[in-house]
Amino acid sequence: MMHGRICVAGASGYLGRRVVAELRARSSPVVAILRDRSCDEDQRRLIALGAGLAFVDAARLEPYAKALSGAVVAIACLASAHVRGDATNDFWAIDRDATIRFGRAALAAGARHVILVATFEGRASRHATAFSDAKEVAVDTLGAACRAAGAAFTVIRPTAYFSDLTNRAFDSVYRHGRHTVIGDGSHRINPVDGCDVAAFIACCIGDPEKAGREHQVGGPDTFSFREIGMLAAEVIGQPDSLKIRMIPLWSLRLAAMVASAGGLISRGSRGTAAIVRWMIWSGTHDAVAPACGDRRLVDAFRAKRDALRPETKDATRRTDR
Ligand SMILES: NC(=O)c1ccc[n+]([C@@H]2O[C@H](COP(=O)([O-])OP(=O)(O)OC[C@H]3O[C@@H](n4cnc5c(N)ncnc54)[C@H](OP(=O)(O)O)[C@@H]3O)[C@@H](O)[C@H]2O)c1
Repeated sequence: MMHGRICVAGASGYLGRRVVAELRARSSPVVAILRDRSCDEDQRRLIALGAGLAFVDAARLEPYAKALSGAVVAIACLASAHVRGDATNDFWAIDRDATIRFGRAALAAGARHVILVATFEGRASRHATAFSDAKEVAVDTLGAACRAAGAAFTVIRPTAYFSDLTNRAFDSVYRHGRHTVIGDGSHRINPVDGCDVAAFIACCIGDPEKAGREHQVGGPDTFSFREIGMLAAEVIGQPDSLKIRMIPLWSLRLAAMVASAGGLISRGSRGTAAIVRWMIWSGTHDAVAPACGDRRLVDAFRAKRDALRPETKDATRRTDR
């Protein structure tokens, strides 16, 4: 058990929730920083874990200082919720600017370790898309601030969370019998469960071998993007009727060009162009990282199927054995 608080920004998100749960399971004192005072469910869940709560809406430029009082470690799990946000809540405002404000406020409050969750491909793709560049500016800025303050700075770069695949790929196969890939879908990825990333982050605290470094983290199984749809279809029990829809790269490039042209007068269009370019990059490059943890995508798909089809739960479980 450590002395001083661990403050987690983005504590209501997919990863942030799991980070708070993991740290509380290790009896660490945690302050979960939330945006939305009105979401009772988020608050109840975090209070039940024994976390303290603080509220900061970064889109309103609310300061982080009070929420970070007594922080020894600060963990940034922030991400914009808006693909087409405005200047207060798009990825420049949240993933870059709010993350930088959070990290600087943590150092001003006396934190000795800042942990930033970034993207797997950010460094390589920042020249290709402003989305990656925005996140990498946060990495560079906070890295320099931590060096100047003599604090440790750890960057976590997960490949892709299971949530992204259960919420989009699995749902599409389940509801429409269709899986969509960018290009030919042959590039490979080893997605990772958020609980395994959270456990890895918790291990970075106080471990001199891990703290102060960059870590790419993935899951135990590597798939091509096509194979992810095939896995979902198998779990659902309809492998033969799966349709794989390929989005041609030229159409995405055209969409990015059109959005870029609109970007001359609109920040929203610049953001859209950046996201489309990031999709092109992600769909055409492998994202395979050292595996952390052993939770498997097939089990996440089975759990999702069982949750969607409660009436067939027992029957499908039997088929899976
Ligand atoms: N998704 C992936 O596959 C993936 C892969 C690699 C890296 N990452 C990185 O991992 C990190 C966490 O991602 P995630 O999937 O857990 O994100 P997420 O589920 O979308 O959660 C984002 C968090 O940021 C908070 N937030 C958004 N706008 C805010 C604002 N204006 N003020 C205060 N808080 C705000 C959200 O609060 P609300 O709940 O109130 O909206 C939420 O708690 C991000 O840095 C992301 O880039 C993600």
